[in-house]
Amino acid sequence: AGSITFSMIKPDAYSAGNSGAILKMIEEAGFTIKAMKLTKLTPEVAGKFYEVHKERPFYGELCAYMSSAPIIALVLQKANAVEEFRKLIGATDPTKAADGTIRKIFAKSIEANAVHGSDSDENAAIEAGFFFSQFERV
Ligand code: CMP
Repeated sequence: AGSITFSMIKPDAYSAGNSGAILKMIEEAGFTIKAMKLTKLTPEVAGKFYEVHKERPFYGELCAYMSSAPIIALVLQKANAVEEFRKLIGATDPTKAADGTIRKIFAKSIEANAVHGSDSDENAAIEAGFFFSQFERV
């Protein structure tokens, strides 16, 4: 039971071999994996996913980075999933992330920050639908 959030294990964390450790932290924090997919984004698909950021100065770099290596897309369920997951991952900037958070432990920089987490229930539904059909979710 509970609500859902959408997450990605990003290229830096995948390439560093941290996917398993991150999934372990996610499960130990009480999230249930409802969908999971290993894939590699093209810059165009990354650009579409992050379209809300297209006016930001870091948008071009972000699209290049997100398509530089595989990612793992996840739909996660827990009571109050969006907020609980944002607590688990910590601040976008790992230098500002609290001790014990996924980004504090695994992120390399504000861009290569190990994981993505949706910022609202509405965006969680949109982002989950971007990656998964109804037949790829339990
Ligand atoms: P995420 O939570 O996935 O949402 C947008 C992403 O843009 C963010 O994580 C980072 O990967 C990246 N990002 C955010 N702010 C910056 C920044 N100031 N410079 C570079 N990348 C950023």
